[in-house]
Amino acid sequence: MKAVRLDDYNTAPVIRDIATPEIGPEDVLVRVGAAALNPLDIKLQSGVLQGYFPLEFRYTVGSDLAGMIEEVGANVSGWHKGDKVIARLDPVAGGALAGFACVPANYLVKVPEDMPLEVAAGIPTAAGTAWQALFELGGLGVGQTVLIHAGAGGVGSFAIQFARASGARVIATASGDGIAIAQTLGADQVIDYRHADFAEMLSDIDLVIDTIGGETQQKSFGVLRSGGRLLSLVAPPDEALAHAHNVNAQFVFHMSDGDRLARVVSAMTENNVRVLIDRTVPLDQFADAFARQSSGRARGKIIATVV
Ligand SMILES: NC(=O)c1ccc[n+]([C@@H]2O[C@H](COP(=O)([O-])OP(=O)(O)OC[C@H]3O[C@@H](n4cnc5c(N)ncnc54)[C@H](OP(=O)(O)O)[C@@H]3O)[C@@H](O)[C@H]2O)c1
Repeated sequence: MKAVRLDDYNTAPVIRDIATPEIGPEDVLVRVGAAALNPLDIKLQSGVLQGYFPLEFRYTVGSDLAGMIEEVGANVSGWHKGDKVIARLDPVAGGALAGFACVPANYLVKVPEDMPLEVAAGIPTAAGTAWQALFELGGLGVGQTVLIHAGAGGVGSFAIQFARASGARVIATASGDGIAIAQTLGADQVIDYRHADFAEMLSDIDLVIDTIGGETQQKSFGVLRSGGRLLSLVAPPDEALAHAHNVNAQFVFHMSDGDRLARVVSAMTENNVRVLIDRTVPLDQFADAFARQSSGRARGKIIATVV
C-alpha cells in the first residue's frame, strides 16, 4: 500500500510502498478513504514535541481518518466489514495517510449518514478538541460569552458552531476572508485581529479558547470576568497572570477517545454542524497539503483523499 512516511524528525515526508499493517485481536483494518492533517502533524514532523510524542521511525503520518472496515479482529464485536467509520489514531502511532490503517476498535465511530468520507475525515481532532475545551473543561452554557481565537481555523470553525448551538454568545477573531467565514458559521461578533485589538474591545468574557498562544494568550487574560476561564490549546497558560487576573487557566491536551468522538458526531448531526474544508488533495499531492497546513492560514480542514 501507499503511505506518507517520515524517515526522521525534520525530514520531508515521502510517499512509499509499504506492507499493509497487521491487526491485533482488538483492532480493525480500515481501508482509508480520506485523512485530515492537523497542525500537530507539522509539529511532530519538526521534532518540537518529541518529549511528549516520541516517534518511532519510519513513521506513517496522520491521526485523523475516514474509511471502510476491511477486516475485523478476533475479539471485536459490533463492527463489520464494509462499515464506514471515522477514527482518531494515537499521534505516536500515526498511520492515517495510507491505503490501510490498523485502528483499535474502541476508537471507531460510524460516519454520519450521507456524509462523504473526505468530509468525515476532517472531524476527529479538530471537532473533538473544540468539544473538550468548550464543554468538558470550559463548562460553557446558555447565556455565557466565549471568545474563540482563529475562528476560521480547524478547531475554531467547529468551536463557533458548537458554542452557538449551545446557546452561548460567540465572539471570534479572524482576518481577511476568515471574517465572513466565521460570521457564516454563527459568530455573533468577529474581530479582525489584524486591524483591531480585541483586548481593548472586550471585557467580562466567561471563556477564552486560545488557539494562538504568545501575546494573544497574554492579552486574553484581561478580557475575562473575575472567575472566568482561559483554555489554551497551544501552551500551558501563565499561572501568575491567571492569579493576577483572578481567573482559571488550563492547557487542553486532546487524547484519542472513541466515546467522546461518538458524542461529538451525534451533536454535529443534531445541530447541523458542518466541516469547513480548506482544500482536498489526492494523497500523492501530500506535499501541497503539508505546505498549506504549515502556513497557519488554513480555513478549516486540509484533506488528503486516498482512493
Ligand atoms: N492541545 C491540543 O490537544 C490541541 C488539539 C488541537 C489543536 N491544537 C493546537 O491548536 C492550534 C490551532 O489548531 P487549528 O487546527 O485550529 O489550526 P489551523 O487550522 O492551522 O488555524 C489556522 C487559522 O489560524 C488563524 N490565525 C493565525 N494567527 C491568528 C491570530 N493571531 N489571531 C487569530 N487567528 C489567527 C488563521 O487565520 P488568518 O489566516 O486570517 O491569520 C487560520 O484561519 C494549533 O497550534 C494546534 O496545534 C492543540
